[in-house]
Amino acid sequence: MRLSVIGCGYLGAVHAAAMASIGHEVVGIDVDQRKIASLSKGEAPFFEPGLQEILTEGIASGNLRFTTDMSEAAGAKVHFVGVGTPQVKDGYAADLTYVNAAVDGLLPYLSEGDIVAGKSTVPVGTAAGLAPRVTETGATLVWNPEFLREGWAVQDTIDPDRLVAGVPAGAEGETAASVLREVYHPSVAKGTPFIVTDYATAELVKVSANAFLATKISFINAMAEIAEVTGADVTQLADAIGHDARIGRRFLGAGIGFGGGCLPKDIRAFSARAEELGRGESVAFLRQVDEINLRRRDRAAQLVVEALGGSVFKKNVTVLGAAFKPHSDDIRDSPALDVAVKLHGLGAWVTVTDPAAIENAQRIHPQLNYVEDRDEALREADAVIVVTEWDEYRRELDPAHAGSLVRGKVVVDGRNCLDAGAWRAAGWEYFGMGRP
Ligand code: UDX
Repeated sequence: MRLSVIGCGYLGAVHAAAMASIGHEVVGIDVDQRKIASLSKGEAPFFEPGLQEILTEGIASGNLRFTTDMSEAAGAKVHFVGVGTPQVKDGYAADLTYVNAAVDGLLPYLSEGDIVAGKSTVPVGTAAGLAPRVTETGATLVWNPEFLREGWAVQDTIDPDRLVAGVPAGAEGETAASVLREVYHPSVAKGTPFIVTDYATAELVKVSANAFLATKISFINAMAEIAEVTGADVTQLADAIGHDARIGRRFLGAGIGFGGGCLPKDIRAFSARAEELGRGESVAFLRQVDEINLRRRDRAAQLVVEALGGSVFKKNVTVLGAAFKPHSDDIRDSPALDVAVKLHGLGAWVTVTDPAAIENAQRIHPQLNYVEDRDEALREADAVIVVTEWDEYRRELDPAHAGSLVRGKVVVDGRNCLDAGAWRAAGWEYFGMGRP
């Protein structure tokens, strides 16, 4: 099928390449000329496992191309809209400027029977607001939220755990849903649940899934706060409650909390939207979810201070990690960098290393010292803090070897990802988060 993808950022670029990889003829469209130039050459503009390969293949096969010219969307049957919905500058709400611009820009090129499939995460009610403009052209608007995780984006797009389509009522909606089923044929044929709903439900599925995940992380971090004053171990607690299948162990990783381009902004936008709808109290707990999350970053910095005897002033602190999570070079709202900046603010000489995100981090926080080589970064450290659980630190860093490089064997495990016993056995003072 011929498809267009409007917006070639994280979501759009992966979607375009993934759709080409399953046999569709795809044009990716974005206003950013540099991004399009890079994608057209088959170069992924950000680090995402597997993306480079499917981009190269797609371009070589002729199934995939990129342009800044919106008119090239004409002739496609389905037009995916995957532009950003960042947090507004002066509040918590989602900024819909790019969604509106993308849909309005697309309107002149739509034909009778086309489908416009919104993928961006939007406040509930957005699709209903956009639909009349799309319908006027003879096309149908559907809302088809995306649940991809960074680091797994290609896999999550090609083989998602569910597909959701919010469609208008009646025959028009049924037709649109069956066209989307065709687009996603390989996963539908495999038995991936394909859930057809109204617009509002589809929009809410996305924000409520993210709100639930964020709540789960803040729940376990709240337990970590209690563990800290009682001597309990939050990781054992998580293992034990996680055995209850109703709870589950995933997303019970206590530490410095969640960040990235989605969870923080999405829970804030959800709160803001609920307020607008007069139901602020229904999701008032999300404010606490956010607050607990942000407190953990302060706690991590405080742990380093305590570990160094009350002050980090002019101490060498090595920060292992900058990305908001491993397998990503994304530093948007990264708890890792936030902790590094806090330590710098307390007067420490902070050295940051990361396998993928240094370039991005340097651009935003030039005041910190960056070193590519992990061992070089560890040299002469008075304390080390792990803030992103890359395998390079979690599995591959031998505590005895690390101990031979540093000045003080003090390690704060901001992700509870190290083998505490092994580090202690190698002579380190080990501090976890919510662990004795
Ligand atoms: C998230 C959702 O998982 C995804 O479905 C949605 O489409 C976009 O937002 P992503 O932002 O890529 O995906 O990252 P995710 O893997 O969910 O992690 C988010 C943050 O939570 C990271 O900073 C991670 O370190 C943190 N986290 C995750 C924890 O602190 N503890 C955990 O147990 C799990």
